[in-house]
Amino acid sequence: MKQFTHVALLVCILMSGIASAQTSEKNNDRKWWKEAVVYQIYPRSFKDSNGDGIGDLRGIISKLDYIKSLGVDVVWLNPIYSSPNDDNGYDVSDYRNIMSDFGTMADFDALLKGMHERGIKLVMDLVVNHSSDEHEWFVQSRSSRTSPYRNYYHWWDAEKGKPAPRYSLFDINHDAWKYDSLTNAYYLHYFSRKQPDLNWENPKLRQEIYDIMKFWAEKGIDGFRLDAFQFAAKDTNFPVFPAGYEKNFIQYYAMGEHLHDYLREMNAEVFSKYDVMSVAEGAGKSFQDAHDLVDADRKELNMAYAFDAVDIAKPEGYSLLHFKEVFSRWDSAFAQNGWLSIFLANHDQARMVSRFGNDTPAFRDLSSKMLATFIMTMRGTPYFYYGDELAMTNAGFERIEDYKDMPTLNEYQYQKNTGGDLKKFMEQVKFGCRDNGRTPFQWDATHNAGFSSGTPWIKINTNYKIINAQAQEKNPASTLNYFRSLVNVRKKNLTLVYGKYELLDKNNPSVYAYTREDESGKLLILLNFSKENALADIGMDVSKKTVLLSNYKERSRPGKRKNTVVLKPYEAKIYVLK
Ligand code: GLC
Ligand code: CA
Repeated sequence: MKQFTHVALLVCILMSGIASAQTSEKNNDRKWWKEAVVYQIYPRSFKDSNGDGIGDLRGIISKLDYIKSLGVDVVWLNPIYSSPNDDNGYDVSDYRNIMSDFGTMADFDALLKGMHERGIKLVMDLVVNHSSDEHEWFVQSRSSRTSPYRNYYHWWDAEKGKPAPRYSLFDINHDAWKYDSLTNAYYLHYFSRKQPDLNWENPKLRQEIYDIMKFWAEKGIDGFRLDAFQFAAKDTNFPVFPAGYEKNFIQYYAMGEHLHDYLREMNAEVFSKYDVMSVAEGAGKSFQDAHDLVDADRKELNMAYAFDAVDIAKPEGYSLLHFKEVFSRWDSAFAQNGWLSIFLANHDQARMVSRFGNDTPAFRDLSSKMLATFIMTMRGTPYFYYGDELAMTNAGFERIEDYKDMPTLNEYQYQKNTGGDLKKFMEQVKFGCRDNGRTPFQWDATHNAGFSSGTPWIKINTNYKIINAQAQEKNPASTLNYFRSLVNVRKKNLTLVYGKYELLDKNNPSVYAYTREDESGKLLILLNFSKENALADIGMDVSKKTVLLSNYKERSRPGKRKNTVVLKPYEAKIYVLK
């Protein structure tokens, strides 16, 4: 009997071992989307092919060889679906059509073909927390309380009184409920009035979305970026939130009760049937939330991106100690399971070099290269924003008239109406407005930076005669060519993708130093985030070690103290330790 118990126990242990070996994917299991370098294109600003001042798909097609030359594997395109463009495509009026400003479905098919011929994958933005108010679903939904589309959105009948307040990120009054006299009811919009929130509780709506996703997956796209999806699940009883909740609205809006049910369903319906990657904008409120989104065993998403790090940069500067602490914390939380995205900029942020580096002429290229080195040597999938490979800087327009971003214009109006400090507001806008990162790509020194023969939809950065791709192509030491080398280093060293990360010289306020290590090797990365020389105290002698890549030609000299290295301003060095 005793023996039987032992055997049974042993069988159980073995079985559970097998079971977990089958189901637990670890984060050093190889996947193409972990090894990929993602290049994000803001289509409106990349290249205009027909002189209307708006970048378009034909424009991107004409630059595919450039994209290929960067060595990147994946292109993520901001939304290109039909849209009245209240929020530059983040208000979709037809998910199965192409925005007329951007071209036609035939252009899209040609673009996808051109990418695939070059071995580049395409990730599309999926905006399904909300649609446009001009989407047929909403037109129907608002037409009558008995419309079969009524429950595609969140309505609150006015005879019940005013609904509990909800904060809108983009609304001119920050009120997320818009009264609609047509049916005497309010509809919910976390973003602008023209972006009504979809009701994910409705299984019919969910099925519609999965069908849309399949439509694009069948065309052969390679992934989806889920816009604002952490807000999709709501408590539709709309309880009253405590006073001041809007200062911390993510706590109340993100990761609603059924979110994971929806994601698992989406995974079963779509992701599991195609070789596509999936990435969520936003990673919830805690590590646990983030793990719940991306741990492979849960069969939801592949990765998410968190904002803790990009939120650090402020007009008055930021602390490198804080920056290191955030990235190290996230890395250790995901050391075993789950996968993250590494980025310092996207279309919702101002330019990387202006926020995290130094965009003055003396240091712009050096600090851009240093920041790119950081992104490309961390664990997680690197996301690189178009133009950062040239060290494009903030435009910093002085006048509100030069800004196009809807929430910025609304907020300006709101500040004006409520007697806010407009001067201070404009200072913040100059530094942080997302239009800073949306100005046209600077191709060359000709009229309009070679972006368009017409009048660009937003002003070109005045520095395009100095900062442009053509000039940098010719210069082997340019930021552009450094970026290419960096991508190459990343591709050749899987240690940079999967290897363990270890922070060195933790309390150094100027230097970010770390190693990446796996069975195949060990690399040391030294980054000086300051404009002065800085001493890295790394506890080892690297004077004889091979330098894999650096933004300075010369070797670094050791400091006076043993096992230290003197780094020049914004110096970046990758050493091979073994
Ligand atoms: C996401 C997008 C942003 C957009 C918003 C509403 O945050 O990245 O650009 O304005 O969602 O769709
Ligand atoms: Ca155009």
